[in-house]
Amino acid sequence: MRTPEEEGSDNTMVEEGTLMLVDGAVVPFRPIRLDDAAALQVFHAGLSVQSVYFRFFGFLPELTAERAHYFTDLDGTNRFALVALDPTAPATIIAVIRYDREEGTDRAEYAAIVTDRWQGRGLGTALTQRLIAIARRHGIHRLYAFVLPDNDRMLHLFRDLHLPEHARPQDGSMRVELDLPATEEG
Ligand SMILES: CC(C)(COP(=O)(O)OP(=O)(O)OC[C@H]1O[C@@H](n2cnc3c(N)ncnc32)[C@H](O)[C@@H]1OP(=O)(O)O)[C@@H](O)C(=O)NCCC(=O)NCCS
Repeated sequence: MRTPEEEGSDNTMVEEGTLMLVDGAVVPFRPIRLDDAAALQVFHAGLSVQSVYFRFFGFLPELTAERAHYFTDLDGTNRFALVALDPTAPATIIAVIRYDREEGTDRAEYAAIVTDRWQGRGLGTALTQRLIAIARRHGIHRLYAFVLPDNDRMLHLFRDLHLPEHARPQDGSMRVELDLPATEEG
């Protein structure tokens, strides 16, 4: 039987494993857990002002315990998140990618954040591909995200997924919608 790590290296359907980046880094990933709240607060505190602004559209130097709980207390189907962990310090979160389903629909809001030192290395793309496979399996057929118009990296990432994409300005940001591909199961 293969280990979760071996499964994760060649199968986008699994929820836990490792991601191989183009520079050779091997990054563990898994679903976020309730007991990640404190690590999530540490992760947040280490982000640059610009990264926080791109993600939360505002100044948010600290993630309160209440918000950390909200972001980690997920049902795994309608609200789901993957975290990537530092390969040399596996208790340290280096990225979080999530979706939140609009209740009663097949649409979900997507959000992503990668710690600054790990940005631009393909981690956000690789983790998003995993999240999409999982979302599709949970009956999500469309993801949408609000992206600031000057957030080129996020807009590039969406384009690189080569999914049907619709983007329109909304309240000073771009609302980007992605149609999700069918899974192998249909
Ligand atoms: C947006 C974000 C999640 C992307 O994750 P990432 O790991 O940095 O992205 P990747 O390394 O997979 O690269 C994505 C694309 O950006 C490109 N890119 C890299 N550096 C870039 C830069 N300085 N400016 C613009 N694009 C850049 C990459 O090359 C890739 O596009 P390409 O394949 O067309 O070249 C991450 O940068 C981040 O957390 N940013 C701050 C928070 C944020 O913006 N969240 C999005 C809110 S929905």
